[in-house]
Amino acid sequence: PLVSSKPLLDDAYKNHYAIGAFAVHNLEIMKAVISGAEKIDTPVIFQTTPGTIKYVGIENIKNMVNSVAEKTSIPIALHLDHGDSFKTVLQCLRAGYTSVMIDGSKLQYEENVALVQKVVEAAHYVNVPVEAELGTIGGVEDDLSVDEQDAQLTDPDLAKDFVARTDIDSFAPAFGTAHGLYKKEPRLNFELVRKISESTGRPIVMHGASGVPEEKVRESLQYGVSKVNFSTELKVEFVARLRDYLNDHPHTDDPRKYFVPAREAVEEIVKKKILMLQSQQTY
Ligand code: 13P
Ligand code: ZN
Ligand code: NA
Repeated sequence: PLVSSKPLLDDAYKNHYAIGAFAVHNLEIMKAVISGAEKIDTPVIFQTTPGTIKYVGIENIKNMVNSVAEKTSIPIALHLDHGDSFKTVLQCLRAGYTSVMIDGSKLQYEENVALVQKVVEAAHYVNVPVEAELGTIGGVEDDLSVDEQDAQLTDPDLAKDFVARTDIDSFAPAFGTAHGLYKKEPRLNFELVRKISESTGRPIVMHGASGVPEEKVRESLQYGVSKVNFSTELKVEFVARLRDYLNDHPHTDDPRKYFVPAREAVEEIVKKKILMLQSQQTY
């Protein structure tokens, strides 16, 4: 069934595991994510950025996710990732998204607070939880691009004020991860995560998880990370397997064949990631 992300993240937060949140760019990747999650029998978050909404069409996303969610026994949340405006948030609420992120991290602090407050007011009226970001996460995600040297770690005192004033349901701080793959191993500030989790009491979201070593991701779970976002690794694997197939079958013209190995490979990654996010006890 389609569910709110709130009970999923709150339970994960309490019990020190995390829910995998996967960027779904097309039908094949969506199918890969759902069948990966089903094999492990664990809840999962489908997320779409504004760029994906534009590409796929919000009606198509809504219809695909609803039909998948109806048929499966595992809880699925549909989340807006890096929501770029109040307007996009309203479109998603109307389409039946069960979770939204508003990304005002480029704004001045008070403007970010004001935007998030407005989104929270609207979303909470219809029982949809809100994720927001403070500080700047490096790397490139869709149209957002932040140079590594401009990436700013989140100030823990501001984080406390931000969460108290906005009443968001989950918090995405900048603590050393970046969107995309890493040139060298990322330096993650877990002390900062611990502090922020303690002072806000909210589930922490790790953005930019592609390329973060497994033991680092697992370690982060004990400090309050409860939602982990993956995009790049899925895209890289998908296109690599597709390219292999096209190279090996230069005369293929059947999308029902050439997408299959790509989809299966993404499913394998999804399974691995979900297992990595589980705590000692299984969900
Ligand atoms: P990666 O592309 O590094 O996996 O980051 C994904 C993300 O944070 C989506 O919001
Ligand atoms: Zn992100
Ligand atoms: Na990354």
